[in-house]
Amino acid sequence: MKKPLRYALFVVAGGLVIAQFFGPARTNPASDPRLTLQAQLEVPDAVQAIVNRSCRDCHTNDTRWPWYSYLAPVSWLVVHDVNHGRSHLNFSEWGRLQPRDAEDLLEEICEVAEKGEMPLRTYLLLHPEARLRPAEVDTLCRWSAAARGQLRLERRGEK
Ligand code: HEC
Repeated sequence: MKKPLRYALFVVAGGLVIAQFFGPARTNPASDPRLTLQAQLEVPDAVQAIVNRSCRDCHTNDTRWPWYSYLAPVSWLVVHDVNHGRSHLNFSEWGRLQPRDAEDLLEEICEVAEKGEMPLRTYLLLHPEARLRPAEVDTLCRWSAAARGQLRLERRGEK
């Protein structure tokens, strides 16, 4: 191998090794079981199965971290997606939502599923099994409509 090339490879490899020590941390914060989606709303098994398979890694505190999430710089992207996803919607902390926000999120869950915006495309490249089938989109949407109706009734009842 030519000397300059060997030197360049050495620098890249060294950079990658050093990168492992930096970047955001993977976290799975403890969650209060009383605040989870299942504790707050009626969640049929079929819906639970969809959330578990396709949404859980970015929208709960129960993320399954794949091996590549330990390798910088990929890990930085994965951790960013998870933190960003949780900040918008966290099924493990559903109980912290104001009733109005819960209703809005339920509506958005159906919307993003129908438009194919979720799960994120980059995630689907590595988790093709997470793609929602049309029947599953249907299941999510029917559940979210029913849950919204229930919340609306409760909100009226409290007035
Ligand atoms: C790879 C990570 C990832 C997966 C898997 C994923 N999401 Fe997301 N989700 C995000 C990120 C990041 C955002 C915020 C950025 C955005 O809107 O693009 C988001 C935003 C959302 C929002 C919008 C919330 C708001 O405040 O506007 C909804 C609703 C949502 N996701 C639902 C789902 C559902 C339902 C699934 C499973 C079918 C799912 N997501 C799977 C990462 C993910």
